[in-house]
Formats: sequence, structure tokens, C-alpha cells
Amino acid sequence: MPFEFIHYKLNQQQDKNRYRRRYSIAKQSGRELHINGKCYLNFSSNDYLGLNNHKKINQALQEGIDQYGLCASASSLITGYQYAHQALEEEICTWLNKPRCLLYSSGFAANLGVLQALGQDDNTAFFLDKLSHASLIDGALASKAKVKRFLHNDFVQLKHYLEQSSSNNKLIVSEGVFSMDGDTANVAELCRLAQAHNAWSYIDDAHSIGVIGDHGEGSISQGNADIIMATFGKAIATSGAFVACDENLFEYLVNFSRHYIYSTAISPALAWASKASIDIIQKEQWRREKITELSQLLSSTLDAQVTLIPTQSSIHAIEIGSESKTLDICEKLKEKGIWLTAIRPPTVPNNSSRLRVTICSNHNVSDINYLSKSINEVLS
Ligand SMILES: Cc1ncc(COP(=O)(O)O)c(C=O)c1O
Repeated sequence: MPFEFIHYKLNQQQDKNRYRRRYSIAKQSGRELHINGKCYLNFSSNDYLGLNNHKKINQALQEGIDQYGLCASASSLITGYQYAHQALEEEICTWLNKPRCLLYSSGFAANLGVLQALGQDDNTAFFLDKLSHASLIDGALASKAKVKRFLHNDFVQLKHYLEQSSSNNKLIVSEGVFSMDGDTANVAELCRLAQAHNAWSYIDDAHSIGVIGDHGEGSISQGNADIIMATFGKAIATSGAFVACDENLFEYLVNFSRHYIYSTAISPALAWASKASIDIIQKEQWRREKITELSQLLSSTLDAQVTLIPTQSSIHAIEIGSESKTLDICEKLKEKGIWLTAIRPPTVPNNSSRLRVTICSNHNVSDINYLSKSINEVLS
């Protein structure tokens, strides 16, 4: 029988308590989730700033549909690139103080598209943080670059690897805020190391954009990385992604990044809505302050044995260990009306299954108090 391995792999996944399934969600916000007629407090959303369904963004989406259409109807280099895309790119360039920016259909496509294009030359080496997202790893492995993974946030090891490398084209790759631990990279130091070793720096700001910086500009507030990638699907609360960089790299990507060239341009209406969202993000600092305040409340109300990794981000990881124990805890929390999706390998290393709590700016003090009380009870 062809593809017999599928059956075997699925069984294996069941045996390891790693089987993944989807839930059909009737309605959701960063704060609440409705499934099978039941409402849960949602602590698994990436809508960090609570902007999903924001009136002004929805209005901009409708305006974008009316003005530019829902579909780009072509790739960017044919006739898909429209005024809405240009306006969004310009807004991002001003926001991040970067010369150029281009849009991809998703963060996954952007990471693949950039790393594959940068790794065209044999004389290239990529240095990736061990906890890099799957799309960064896949992009690096799809390129011709030599790939080295340094221990998480271990810049001593990174420096050693950089010193050892004889490649002409070195690229350091890291996330700004790490998706599954919520901790941050020391972007200032990473940029300094890159400069000292004639390397470029690449920061995936999927979880930092909107959340970090006085205007939500993300990791660029800490250090001027050469390349910034961020998705619109999290704090920006739309869909798609951008890559911000210098003029030369921009022209190179437009000419050589396959995921950019051979893919339909993102919806112009969504680009218009993303621009509206970024306007709000820059102005409404209270949303970031709320995340900080609620995060502090969470760490101060959890029992002493429950440790959180210190972070400025929305993401708070509570490591449990085994897959089965983590699933069991998530079920118990569900019975209390709390939705927390269990995060298991291979998304995280073996024996580090966890609860990944995301705090959004439309949660409130009583939500967090209830969450802490419930976690304390379930873990006691
Ligand atoms: C760190 C990181 N990079 C990239 C991506 C991919 O972004 P997108 O969801 O837009 O494909 C994600 C999303 O899960 C992510 O967490």
C-alpha cells in the first residue's frame, strides 16, 4: 500500500500523547473562546493587544475591499502590487525607521523566502538560536548555507561559532521574543556581535511587534538589526507578514525570493486593515502597559513553586514535563472554564511540555486572579 508510513506515524503520535487535533471555534476574542456551546477564558490567543475585531480595523477592511478589492488577483511582480500595499510598506518603514519593506503571505513564507534567498551562495553560514521557530529552521535548511545552532541565548557559544567560521556571508538568526518560552533575545548585544564579526543580524519579531517598544515597534527599539521579519497574524490582528531591510536587500528579495515572486500578493484589503491596526498600535501605549501590569499580577499570584521565565512579553511558559501530565492539567483547567492549549514536542524539546499562557490587553484583573487561583489548585 502506498504511503503506509502515514498510519504508522499517526499511531506513534497517539502512543506518545502527541496527537494533534483541531477544535472548531464558534467565536473568539483574545479574552474569550466559544466552543461546543461553552464559553472559556482564553489564554491561548496571539491577539496580544486585543485588536481582533476592532471597529476601526474592521472599517478599514471594508474600505480596503471597496477601494482595492479583497483579492490582489496576481503576484506582486505581475499586477498584484497595489497602492494599499505600498501605503502599508511605507507606514512600516517609518515606524521601524528602515529604508524598505516588502510583504509576504505569512510569517512562515517570509522566513522561508528570505533565508532561502540569502543562502544561495555556498560561502554562506547561518547561526540560529536553538529555540528558533520551525519556519526559520526550514528556511535555513532549504538554503545552501551551512547551518549552526547555538544554545538558547548563549552568546558565548555564538561568538565562538562566528570566530570559527570562514564563510564570507554570515547571518545571525534569532527571535526577538521566543514563541514558546516568552523570553527575549538580547538584541542590542546580538547586533553588536554581528557588527564585530562582519555578519548580518535577522530578527523574527512575530511575538515582539506591537508588544515591545514605546510605539510597539518591537526589537528595533533595543538594537538596529539588519533584517526584521514580523507577522501580521498576532498583535497586528490581521494576516500576512513583512520583511524590513535596506535598499539593496529589498531589490535582491524582489528579484530572487521565490516565496515573494511566485505567490499571490496579500489581500490589498487586509493590507489596508493592517495599516489601520499599526496606526492604533503606535498610539495606544496603554495596551502594552496593561500586558505588563497583568503579567506582574500573574507572577505575584501564582504559588511559589510555579516559576515563570521573566519577560516583557505577553507569553508566560509554565513547564510541566511529560505530555500526559500537561494534557491532564489542561483538561482540569478546561473544567474550570479556562482554555490553555497544551504545548508538546516537537514544538518544544522533549520532556518540556508546558502551559503557554498568553496575556492580552483585553484581559482584566479578575481574569488573571481566576487563572492563578485555578493553576495553583490544579498544580497543588
Ligand atoms: C516566531 C514565529 N515566526 C514565524 C511564525 C509564522 O508566522 P505566520 O503565522 O504569519 O505564518 C510564527 C507563528 O506561529 C512564529 O511564532
